[in-house]
Amino acid sequence: MGMSVKDFLTWCRKHLILVTVATVVLIVAFGYVNVQVLHMTSEPEFCHLCHPAKGFGALAEVDSWEHSGHAEAGVSCLDCHGQPGVFGYMKAKMGGLKDLYFQVTITPEEKRKILENPDEDLVPSLQCLFCHTDEGNKQYREEHKYTMQLVEMRMLDSVKNPEFRMRKGLPDIMEETFVGGSHFDHAFHIESFEMECNNCHFGLIHREQSKTDRMNMCLVCHAENEGSSAPQLADCKACHEAQVAMNEGRGAKGVAGEYSLMYAADIDCEGCHTGAETGQFRPTAETCVVCHEEEYVDIFNDWASETQGQIEELKVLRAHVETELKEADTRKRNTEELWALYQKAIYNLRFVKNDGTSGVHNSEYANMILGSVKTDLNDVLKGLEQAW
Ligand code: HEC
Ligand code: HEC
Ligand code: HEC
Ligand code: HEC
Ligand code: HEC
Ligand code: HEC
Ligand code: HEC
Ligand code: HEC
Repeated sequence: MGMSVKDFLTWCRKHLILVTVATVVLIVAFGYVNVQVLHMTSEPEFCHLCHPAKGFGALAEVDSWEHSGHAEAGVSCLDCHGQPGVFGYMKAKMGGLKDLYFQVTITPEEKRKILENPDEDLVPSLQCLFCHTDEGNKQYREEHKYTMQLVEMRMLDSVKNPEFRMRKGLPDIMEETFVGGSHFDHAFHIESFEMECNNCHFGLIHREQSKTDRMNMCLVCHAENEGSSAPQLADCKACHEAQVAMNEGRGAKGVAGEYSLMYAADIDCEGCHTGAETGQFRPTAETCVVCHEEEYVDIFNDWASETQGQIEELKVLRAHVETELKEADTRKRNTEELWALYQKAIYNLRFVKNDGTSGVHNSEYANMILGSVKTDLNDVLKGLEQAW
């Protein structure tokens, strides 16, 4: 009755091909299920089960991420919380098992306490440099030559610079000094004062951090240091490159403008930024009334809502165009020129966003730039249709 082990082996030997095929199918199916589990447990929705709060700070890590520029650009949890490459990924997954273990063994108070005091080195600068510089990216790739290619489970593993950051419209922060809207030399400051990314970008993603907090950070060394070679507080233009350019109607690629009416009439930065000396850097609509009639508050609000509306619309269009370009790339079409046009458009969009004033510094120029962004993005879409 039945088959002995010996019979079974004999049977297998006779049906070697069938057995091989069946084994391979089983292994692949098992591997597939595991990969699906790995994928599923890497999704923000999964993290949300145990990090469910709204707003900023401990427990609200998914919600704060969702409203960040990184999320908008498709950078997800394990792109920052897990080093590049297959081992980095697996290590992050082991960390996940630790999370699970703690979830069922510690009290909610203990959990909150851990989350409120993240390790200084939780996301080391190396991780950020991988995406935000060419050299950091190249070095890591060379040191992990063999394990980098094994899997591409995340955006992170496919990040190759300069292509990645150029396609996202980002500067190489260790080479370029026009970053965000500021003139700021990362390499000089980081190397001279041995700083880490989180010394300045301490609120990145999960904590609330205002621009005033960031400026005050600079003023530790850039105010009341007489005789220092470092630019001082009153020298707004040394740091605020985008705002100077916007006031002067220049700086966007392929779009030339003119001085704003007020800047042309010799109203300088501190003409409107009257509170800068007392730490009130940001003016409001009320500032307009210092020189104009009450109605100018409405002009301010009109400029702001018009520009904001356009920016929101363009953000959606930009995401759509990027998806279409990537899709065309998977079909091996020649998209080089269209990517270049796309890069120009997002550079200009970021330029207006980084001015940070909804067009108040030069509403005419801001509108011209945003108009050109829309045209460029639509031209990319047209180009994609024609390239068939
Ligand atoms: C089953 C519940 C659970 C899930 C699901 C979960 N976490 Fe956690 N997480 C915790 C707990 C509990 C802690 C605090 C204890 C600890 O440090 O592990 C924590 C801590 C963390 C920390 C702090 C660092 C550390 O290890 O000390 C990070 C980062 C983190 N989680 C990221 C994530 C990410 C990313 C995901 C989704 C891929 C996720 N978590 C999913 C429960 C969970
Ligand atoms: C752009 C990089 C980046 C992304 C993307 C990111 N994080 Fe973080 N995360 C950080 C940094 C940096 C810290 C260190 C603490 C800080 O600065 O708030 C951190 C800290 C944490 C912590 C520790 C507790 C805390 O509140 O500080 C948890 C938990 C966490 N992140 C979960 C997540 C989850 C879940 C996601 C995805 C929904 C995510 N992170 C996406 C960079 C990132
Ligand atoms: C997977 C690649 C990746 C990693 C890792 C990464 N970033 Fe980014 N970062 C991006 C992209 C893409 C953007 C562009 C977002 C956009 O289009 O607005 C960005 C934007 C930024 C900005 C601009 C302002 C903003 O919040 O949108 C800052 C500052 C920044 N990153 C700092 C960091 C720091 C600090 C770290 C490490 C804790 C880090 N990034 C990790 C890809 C990455
Ligand atoms: C001394 C403070 C300081 C340190 C340290 C620092 N940064 Fe920055 N970073 C800034 C300032 C200021 C800006 C410009 C902010 C703005 O105007 O939007 C900036 C902008 C950026 C941007 C946005 C670039 C763009 O054009 O959108 C990225 C990305 C970035 N930093 C990454 C990093 C990384 C990665 C590290 C660590 C290796 C780091 N920074 C360390 C102050 C700092
Ligand atoms: C730890 C002290 C320190 C901090 C913090 C600091 N700086 Fe500096 N910075 C200096 C010194 C010192 C110099 C002078 C360098 C020289 O001699 O040219 C300098 C030079 C500069 C210059 C002029 C040189 C150039 O690149 O054109 C700018 C602009 C500048 N810093 C911007 C910033 C900004 C923006 C921040 C905040 C994000 C900041 N710094 C934070 C110390 C600091
Ligand atoms: C040493 C460099 C430096 C100098 C000098 C400087 N700033 Fe800033 N300022 C910054 C940085 C960095 C930020 C943060 C930018 C960001 O993150 O987008 C900032 C932020 C601001 C903000 C935004 C504040 C908010 O919370 O919304 C205003 C407004 C501003 N600066 C005005 C001025 C004016 C006006 C002057 C001259 C009186 C000046 N700044 C001088 C570096 C500087
Ligand atoms: C006509 C008045 C006016 C003049 C002139 C002016 N600003 Fe502003 N600026 C504003 C107002 C108003 C805001 C806030 C706008 C808002 O909240 O939408 C602002 C915002 C800013 C911000 C914050 C940007 C951000 O990222 O949030 C900076 C930095 C700034 N101005 C720098 C400058 C500099 C540098 C100059 C001189 C080259 C200048 N401004 C000239 C009215 C002015
Ligand atoms: C320090 C004084 C001062 C402040 C503050 C100021 N302006 Fe002006 N503004 C002027 C001057 C001077 C002109 C004249 C330019 C011309 O007509 O040659 C002007 C011109 C204008 C014009 C175009 C001509 C007109 O009169 O309609 C507009 C629009 C305007 N300002 C709006 C604003 C808004 C909005 C604010 C607040 C963000 C503001 N201004 C803040 C001094 C100021």
